[in-house]
Amino acid sequence: MRNLNQDTITQAVIARLSDTPDARLKEVLTCVVQHLHALARELRLTEAELQAGIEFLTAVGKKCSASRQEFVLLADVLGLSTLTVAMNHDKPAGCTEATTFGPFYVPDAQPMASGADLAGDAPGQPCRVRGRVCALDGGPVAAAQVEVWQSDADGRYDVQYEDLPGPRARGVFSTGADGRFQLRSVLASPYPVPEDGPVGQLMRASSGHPWRPAHMHFRISAPGFEILVTQVYRQGDPYLDSDPVYGVRQSLVAPWVPDEQGLYTLDFDFVLQRRAGSEP
Ligand code: BEZ
Ligand code: FE
Repeated sequence: MRNLNQDTITQAVIARLSDTPDARLKEVLTCVVQHLHALARELRLTEAELQAGIEFLTAVGKKCSASRQEFVLLADVLGLSTLTVAMNHDKPAGCTEATTFGPFYVPDAQPMASGADLAGDAPGQPCRVRGRVCALDGGPVAAAQVEVWQSDADGRYDVQYEDLPGPRARGVFSTGADGRFQLRSVLASPYPVPEDGPVGQLMRASSGHPWRPAHMHFRISAPGFEILVTQVYRQGDPYLDSDPVYGVRQSLVAPWVPDEQGLYTLDFDFVLQRRAGSEP
């Protein structure tokens, strides 16, 4: 294989992949090569631009740490996360829609008693959240694990503070026999996606703003059901129609309604999809 040129290089690379033992890996790599080469041809990519792209991805990697996932952020702002969620969670009508995880999920959050306040000393106006987890037929899903995480009034997640002694504004609740759960917290605020890294630089160099509309994250799991990862967005937020990570779905926009004492309440029910083969 010698004297490869711009007309023969793509086929040569694909031919070398032809004996890849893992069929899916072979398919993915072949597709990646085809699309990368097509992109380079279409853009008439210069060597300086290739180098700049490599330096950008290197900076994205260097920005990653245990509490910061710059590659997730990159996938989010390019719409790749939302596209992948949309393709993989095409649920029957009536099921709660899924959205992206975002970079601030932390596994193994602390279990909390029904009605507990997950905010700790996080700043913000008090709120409560009441909901029911059910199946498509309306039946309750008992003992579902409802993981919740959110930003505080300053628009920051616990992992974005350097000096917190432990997790804050995140926790896990269990549904009762009637599928219900409730919790106390503080109102989440809109916040800019992290701008102090290479993805922020990219965003500033393009158009748009970094502000996500106020939302609460949920990950709900129960035996026999598909895991639901979603977010509920605060009705009236000014950024609902310009989310930089394309996560907002109309069915997930809901009001946190204030009472006379200034306590806000969100009532929101979640409908899970049964896992194939686990019909009752
Ligand atoms: C989030 O919702 O937590 C999030 C999503 C994408 C980028 C940054 C944050
Ligand atoms: Fe978020």
